[in-house]
Amino acid sequence: NRRQDLAGRRLLITAGPTHEDLDPVRYLGNRSTGKMGIALAEAAAARGATVDLILGPTHLSTSAPGVTVIPVRTAREMHESALDRWPMATDGILCAAVADYRPESVAPEKIKKTEGDFALTLIRNPDIAADLGRDKRPDQFLVGFALETENGIENARGKLERKGLDLIVLNSPRVPGAAFGHDTNQIQLIDRNKVTSFELKAKREVADDILDRLPPNRTP
Ligand code: C5P
Repeated sequence: NRRQDLAGRRLLITAGPTHEDLDPVRYLGNRSTGKMGIALAEAAAARGATVDLILGPTHLSTSAPGVTVIPVRTAREMHESALDRWPMATDGILCAAVADYRPESVAPEKIKKTEGDFALTLIRNPDIAADLGRDKRPDQFLVGFALETENGIENARGKLERKGLDLIVLNSPRVPGAAFGHDTNQIQLIDRNKVTSFELKAKREVADDILDRLPPNRTP
């Protein structure tokens, strides 16, 4: 019985894309909508958890009781907000599609076109998952996501080790109906010991499958 099995837990969830500004009107972004993270937040709250949902720019949100939405725009804002809240969390689930790079500088005025081409220099953004993994206490559980187009399981295990994660959710963008923008997802859950494969299902049900893997509350 899943009812209230997450009572007393405080989850930190990142979701959605990030927007990396180029000038006052332009940005680099990606197609993440935040649906999977919002489904996780709502499912966790329904099971009794308190949730901090750090949400990148998307037209979707949630007003579910128990969920505090912290809106952010850039990877650096998401990073700062996540690091601030991580010490208070019992578990972290990082499903945001964080931009790996940002423009080297943000132009203060709208960039004007010229006759010539335009070259953009991108610099690395911080890796939120790796930084939370580094700061993780033994009593905290950290879940990451991976979207791979090839060698999924092998790459996901590498990520698990490098970023100090306890569990990784692998979704393939090649599966019709899965991942970005869809209401359904097909996942594999990968930890150090095993790989568990699931059917294509509604993101809310996928959320419950992921939440089932959080370590059980210790009985007093
Ligand atoms: O390395 P890759 O981007 O494939 O790793 C994906 C996982 O790492 C996801 O859980 C994603 O939310 C997280 N991540 C992050 N900060 C970044 C890049 C990825 O938290 N800058």
